[in-house]
Amino acid sequence: MILGIESSCDETAAAVVEDGRRLRSSIVASQVEIHHRYGGVVPELASRKHIETILPVVTQALDQAGVAPGDIEALAVTQGPGLVGSLLVGFSFAKGYAYGLGIPWVGVNHLEGHIHSAFLDEHPPDFPFVALLVSGGHTALYHVTSFTAAELMGQTRDDAVGEAYDKVAKVMGLGYPGGAVIDRRAAAGDPARVPFKRPFLDKNGFDFSFSGIKSAVNRFVQSHAEELTDLRDHIAAGFQEAVVDVLTHKLLAAAKQQGCGRIAVVGGVAANRRLRERVRSAGAAQGLAVHIPSVAFCGDNAAMIAAVGYHYLQQGMRGGLGDDVYSRNLR
Ligand code: KG4
Ligand code: ZN
Repeated sequence: MILGIESSCDETAAAVVEDGRRLRSSIVASQVEIHHRYGGVVPELASRKHIETILPVVTQALDQAGVAPGDIEALAVTQGPGLVGSLLVGFSFAKGYAYGLGIPWVGVNHLEGHIHSAFLDEHPPDFPFVALLVSGGHTALYHVTSFTAAELMGQTRDDAVGEAYDKVAKVMGLGYPGGAVIDRRAAAGDPARVPFKRPFLDKNGFDFSFSGIKSAVNRFVQSHAEELTDLRDHIAAGFQEAVVDVLTHKLLAAAKQQGCGRIAVVGGVAANRRLRERVRSAGAAQGLAVHIPSVAFCGDNAAMIAAVGYHYLQQGMRGGLGDDVYSRNLR
């Protein structure tokens, strides 16, 4: 019975997971309302809010799971990458909580957490599989060969795809965070009305680049200010179609290169309806098994952190009181 804790960005989350993948509870407290008016996450405000929220969220996760603190056998907590001040709240809390209960704990890589969200599903993928990780901070392709081994095949050289979604929404005056709004707007638009060049970078390679399309949308918006109200949905659709084209193409090409029959999409942007639809249909056409977590486990959550922790704890890995968080990806 593992308690997972996540606080790497602007979500305070706790979850209880049994045997590595049986979900007993998952609580996610979003700070969106606090950061909304600033058009992005304000790190200092995020840290302060995590401090207020962490204990109530953990208590709620235990209550929902129907367990007492004494029933928790181990603890897993996000160690990085993320905002240092935010990470420190969950990480320090976890250390103290585990020390108080006298139970083992382990620090977890947030990106590995997103990959493990695929295992929380009713039909988890077999190994190996190729995973496309698309979030607000990262965009990468991995060849995943076991619960604790993944080879990086490619990644973004500039912006993450979620970051591009957020910036495009911002320049169109659609608020923060932008992913879900663009998703909704795009569904009402015609992607052929305002087309954007597909940011393939290198069509045969697995690296990504999204800063160019972000600037192209910005330029288009600046030069069409008068017609913006009429064009918003079409711009959203044109941007989204270009991005989804590239993501789908590279994911399928990566699976082909690995001779791998299974693909997964994980991370906050995996909630995108168009991306889910395109990957599902393109994957099916190639005879691939497609794994995309339910929307609740695409965004940041603690169940995925507990799921990773289970495997590291089983391998004997333990966190120590001297361990620290890290802002950039290490592993
Ligand atoms: O994984 P996540 O919750 O946090 C990070 O680890 O970054 O991802 C958040 C990102 C944000 O950029 C948000 O705009 C994007 O995921 N996102 C979406 C959708 N829902 C959230 N992007 C596109 N379509 C969506 N429906
Ligand atoms: Zn994340």
